[in-house]
Amino acid sequence: MAQKTFHVEVYGCQMNKLDGQLAADRLRAMGLREAVGLRDADVVLFVTCSVRQHAEDRVYSNAGKLKHRKARQPGLVIGILGCMAEKDRDDIFRRLPHVDFICGPGHLDRLEDLVREATARGAGGHLAALDAPRAARSPGDVDDHLEAFELGRLTPVGEHPFHAYVRVMRGCDNFCAYCIVPYVRGPEASRPPSAILDEVGRLVAAGVRHVTLLGQSIGSYARQEQGRLWQLADLVRAAAEIEGLVRLDFVTTHPKNLSDAIIECLAAGPPVAPYLHVPAQSGSDRVLRAMHRGYTIGEYRERVAAARRRVPGLSVASDFIVGYPGESDEDFEATVALIREMDFSQVFAFKYSVRPGTAAARLDDDVPEDMKKDRLARLLKVWSESALRSKRALIGRTVECLVTGPSPKPHLDAAEGGDGGGRMQLSSRSPGQQIVLFEGPSGLIGSMVPVRITRVSPITLFGEAVAV
Ligand code: 5AD
Ligand code: SF4
Repeated sequence: MAQKTFHVEVYGCQMNKLDGQLAADRLRAMGLREAVGLRDADVVLFVTCSVRQHAEDRVYSNAGKLKHRKARQPGLVIGILGCMAEKDRDDIFRRLPHVDFICGPGHLDRLEDLVREATARGAGGHLAALDAPRAARSPGDVDDHLEAFELGRLTPVGEHPFHAYVRVMRGCDNFCAYCIVPYVRGPEASRPPSAILDEVGRLVAAGVRHVTLLGQSIGSYARQEQGRLWQLADLVRAAAEIEGLVRLDFVTTHPKNLSDAIIECLAAGPPVAPYLHVPAQSGSDRVLRAMHRGYTIGEYRERVAAARRRVPGLSVASDFIVGYPGESDEDFEATVALIREMDFSQVFAFKYSVRPGTAAARLDDDVPEDMKKDRLARLLKVWSESALRSKRALIGRTVECLVTGPSPKPHLDAAEGGDGGGRMQLSSRSPGQQIVLFEGPSGLIGSMVPVRITRVSPITLFGEAVAV
């Protein structure tokens, strides 16, 4: 019989990217191989996101398209993993009756059993592995099962071949009023530091050079081990010691947890990257209070300023929600002013989307859709103007770039197709996570190269390798 194939489709955040890769790893370990695309796969998994309605709509639409194929090919196995499985539960089987199983993010370790059972059953029957770990299992039990699953990973994965994500904690306890994450991913649970460091060490030994530590609210990492309390700063310092690791960053930091100890880790320099993702969500104190964020915009400014004082050139990324219930023109203008002032290296901005069961769902979603759209467009325009200004300021400077591979779309005329001498346009990442393109030999892929920035576009930096 021909070898069975799989396809994993990932929606949403970096945590989901990691879950998707761990799922793919497990299927490979079961003897399946990756299909060319969704159309050829015998097992199709959707790693879903519930953070906004739009992400859910896409999954319902794309998984819905498999209905006819499942009717023709009953052996096709379709699984819905991740946050939407937890949130929508039986609704998924009602709306997508051809789906074989659903599996919440706290049960990924049961994937292999689910796939085997669904394969044995063929069409018919719905399987579910659910319940945010809060209800289903004791923290120790979650640790045992999920740790084994996490540590069983075969291949590194990340944004490029030398990058890997490593989870340091699961869940979130913050309960920001708009957010579904604490309900679908359960309470915060920090992984044992020894397991995390072991995983980073093994990834580096396998050729990974850049590791991103992941947690929904990573600044609250805390775990006792052998009588010692480990916090994020301790973990970052210990990981930074691992020989061969050239870049280390961590996301996402809640502003209220941006401690001096974390700032000191950033100030220590390589391999710790001068990069922080600290979502502000809004520039208005009134809105921040309504969101239950736990800080004022003055405190946010103070923390970021403290980090910038200690870490010159720090790259700060932020998230924003526009059109939160009750957001007035004045509130929104405060957000625009913050973005003008803060010089964020990246801004991820979203229109508010009501999430059933959250505190904000009880409020009137009173900002009209058109106004949300206009505010989002204005916010992004203001940010891209400020981003272009700060990128221009980099012209003439030299930055240490990790070369990630050939440029997917060569932008420099001379580099197109290379010049026959093995030179090509290479894509690299600055310490602040910006994309930097330059010409060089393919042998540089995977190494750190100093690049002098020569010109910029709103999203990309261009430069020349120094002394190569
Ligand atoms: N509507 C819109 N955006 C949201 N986010 C979280 N919940 C919602 C929601 N209900 C955004 C926040 C968060 C990012 C991951 O998604 O900005 O930081
Ligand atoms: Fe959601 Fe707030 Fe937790 Fe982030 S910190 S995952 S926005 S509840």
